[in-house]
Amino acid sequence: MSVLRTKTIEQSIAETDEEGHQLKKRLSALDLTVFGIGVIIGAGIFTVTGKAAAQYAGPAIVISFVIGAVCCGLAALCYAEFASTVPVSGSAYTFSYASLGELVAWIIGWDLLLELMLGASVVSQGWSEYAELFLGKIGITWPASLAPGSHFDLLAFLLVAALTTLIAIGIKESMRVNLVLVGLKLFIVLFVIFAGIGYVKTSNYTPFIPPSVKGQSSSGLGAPLIQLLFGFQPATFGVLGIVAGASIVFFAYIGFDVVATTAEEAKNPQRDLPRGIIASLAICTVLYIAVALVITGMVRYDKIDEKAALASAFASVGKGGFATIIAAGAVAGLTTVVMTLMIGATRVVFAMSRDWLLPKRLARVNHKTGTPLTITIAIGTAVALIASITPIGKLEEMVNIGTLAAFTLVSIAIPLLRKRRPDLKRAFKVPGNPVVPIFAALVCFYLMLNLSVETWLRFLIWMVLGFGVYFFYSRRNSRLEVADQEGVDAMELGETAGDRV
Ligand code: ALA
Repeated sequence: MSVLRTKTIEQSIAETDEEGHQLKKRLSALDLTVFGIGVIIGAGIFTVTGKAAAQYAGPAIVISFVIGAVCCGLAALCYAEFASTVPVSGSAYTFSYASLGELVAWIIGWDLLLELMLGASVVSQGWSEYAELFLGKIGITWPASLAPGSHFDLLAFLLVAALTTLIAIGIKESMRVNLVLVGLKLFIVLFVIFAGIGYVKTSNYTPFIPPSVKGQSSSGLGAPLIQLLFGFQPATFGVLGIVAGASIVFFAYIGFDVVATTAEEAKNPQRDLPRGIIASLAICTVLYIAVALVITGMVRYDKIDEKAALASAFASVGKGGFATIIAAGAVAGLTTVVMTLMIGATRVVFAMSRDWLLPKRLARVNHKTGTPLTITIAIGTAVALIASITPIGKLEEMVNIGTLAAFTLVSIAIPLLRKRRPDLKRAFKVPGNPVVPIFAALVCFYLMLNLSVETWLRFLIWMVLGFGVYFFYSRRNSRLEVADQEGVDAMELGETAGDRV
């Protein structure tokens, strides 16, 4: 069956050298780690954490973070193995094309697009909220008709437009800007931890796990799917609240997987990708747990300001001035997240169009910039529009479900590829195969079940759309399909791809 056809790993690697389709190999292990931290720390810790503590878990949000870290840590091991075996642009999409077949690869690619494009949009909205706060602090009033939450969020639009230009100019240049902004962001996170620790009142930690209450926010379509499936009374807080909280703060960890999308641009991908992925995730986990402890220790969970938890926590202890510093840090910090998610999205579309599952013209790399220009502009336009006109707070869970679906499939792919291609050189291996990857898939799926019914419905619509595109366009135009029909090897077709575009 054609939907199960796989692309060989050798072919994937060979294509990266095709004339006119080469990305420049410039990134080191340190670049990759900085890139990882740049995309991981963002709206998750600056805005989502406060909301999740106040609505779902109380101080036990710390446990939610631990659960999220375990889930992502397991998935990170799987990503690291794949990235060290198939160092080709496109991340999970490319890995699965080599192991689970074209249809699953398409589904993952489609999921990743959801994750990356909506993720960039959500974070730009968070950015614009902090930017407005910061402008207010320095005495500039932004017009309400163009403010975050209005019909057209001009700040978010301008941010995405500026970042699209930067990404189009070149990846190394983007990395340089990234480095400065990541430094600033780390400073702010450490600042919150060290400046806040002195204001922690241990009495705020009791009760650590607030008793379960029937929650308004979690009834009807807003209830986690698992509560509906098993007929639990929809509730927030308590043990169920901790897991629901984990499925929300999961957003804060998203991004380490994006490191794998830049595989082709790494100087030594086999060695450096696993390092970059695991190091960035580990650093962020420690910081998140510390921030969550400090915030829930400074402010009682039911008093946390859901919009700007970090800044308000300081205001509540009489340190309003710190709020300005934190807002400025968030503006800088969230910028790198949007940029990196957008780079990830362009690289996934790049990989999919190089396989002709999307129009092959898109995979052209511009000679001067060394970047896929058409895709960059298309993604930039889409993100700018989504960010500026969709209501705030509606898209986060969609990002989580898309990512968790991709993680689940990637984890399942590990034992499959080990079985199918035991001969491949794997610079990094997940320990305890197949138990660990299967456990990883189960944990990811369990978190998905904790997302709301509404999110599941939206996700299903997105997937139906994806299937439509695949069966009406991609399956027929796939490079493997064309090769098959012409009776040639897809790699030969690859060599003449330049003429065909
Ligand atoms: N992890 C990223 C953030 O928290 C997506 O903004």
